[in-house]
Amino acid sequence: MDADLKVLGKSGVRIPSIGLGTWGIGGYGVRDTSTDREAVAALQRGIELGMWLIDTAELYGAGHCEELVGQAIKDFPREEVLIISKVHDKHLRHQEVIQACQESLQRLQTDYIDLYLIHFPNYRVPLKETMGAMEELVEQGVIRFIGVSNFPLNVMKEAQGYLSKAEIQANEVKYNLKCRYDEKDLLPYCQREGITLIAYTPLEEGSLASNKLLQEVGQEYGKTAAQIALNWLICQENVVTIPKAINLRHLEENAEVMGWRMRQEDLERLSAAFD
Ligand SMILES: NC(=O)c1ccc[n+]([C@@H]2O[C@H](COP(=O)([O-])OP(=O)(O)OC[C@H]3O[C@@H](n4cnc5c(N)ncnc54)[C@H](OP(=O)(O)O)[C@@H]3O)[C@@H](O)[C@H]2O)c1
Repeated sequence: MDADLKVLGKSGVRIPSIGLGTWGIGGYGVRDTSTDREAVAALQRGIELGMWLIDTAELYGAGHCEELVGQAIKDFPREEVLIISKVHDKHLRHQEVIQACQESLQRLQTDYIDLYLIHFPNYRVPLKETMGAMEELVEQGVIRFIGVSNFPLNVMKEAQGYLSKAEIQANEVKYNLKCRYDEKDLLPYCQREGITLIAYTPLEEGSLASNKLLQEVGQEYGKTAAQIALNWLICQENVVTIPKAINLRHLEENAEVMGWRMRQEDLERLSAAFD
């Protein structure tokens, strides 16, 4: 299936509108190996279905999630997948960032991470120091692009100001029909400045999949409620999203969100109904 492509920030690099979330794969805060085989199969199926943007983090499964992502991508040419990983907010001193990235690369069994994000701001560490380390990683060629996650607009702007050669290409934040805080200022800014907003928890952890209004709108398109919730996100300029699914039926459904868009009137109806 062809991916529905957008551009990552101002990088010129194309990314699918729907990627793969991984929170819970390989464990939540702790390592869990009980579903490894199923997890690797799900990630591989997701890549085959065109969702080759994979979002992971050193935090997930205490590193085990990155190991599983590493196993899953081995069967694909490296340049055919885009890996997002994140440095934990406890590791934001200069040397800690460099070391956290090295450890992520080892777990992922790859030479580079496509997009490396600061997972959360940590106001106890000077942001200038962290951004300097992120830029050093770009210079070393071990990360291709820099981004942030859970950064409010003013902090993202501050972070941008500390970069001299690289740019912030993405901010990964919670955004879905029920969670719309960032529509006021962060999203319009990202759209103006060419920064990708990566919407996490797009299904409100699955609960939007049983929403009555979404089911009703879905009937007009022959789509499920979950597909409508995800399509509403990718209808927006500069927004891509990363639903997590281990169930193969869910994965297939999510891939089928690409390649079409709902009508403007339905988009507006949903935006108003959930406001
Ligand atoms: N940067 C951050 O701080 C941050 C924070 C939270 C999340 N994230 C990222 O965003 C990703 C997605 O967010 P999330 O995992 O919190 O929640 P989510 O994607 O909104 O929801 C995941 C849940 O929805 C179910 N699901 C997936 N597709 C479905 C479908 N088509 N129909 C019905 N149910 C479906 C999944 O079930 P199955 O797994 O059983 O298929 C799972 O239980 C995470 O995995 C992570 O990569 C980032």
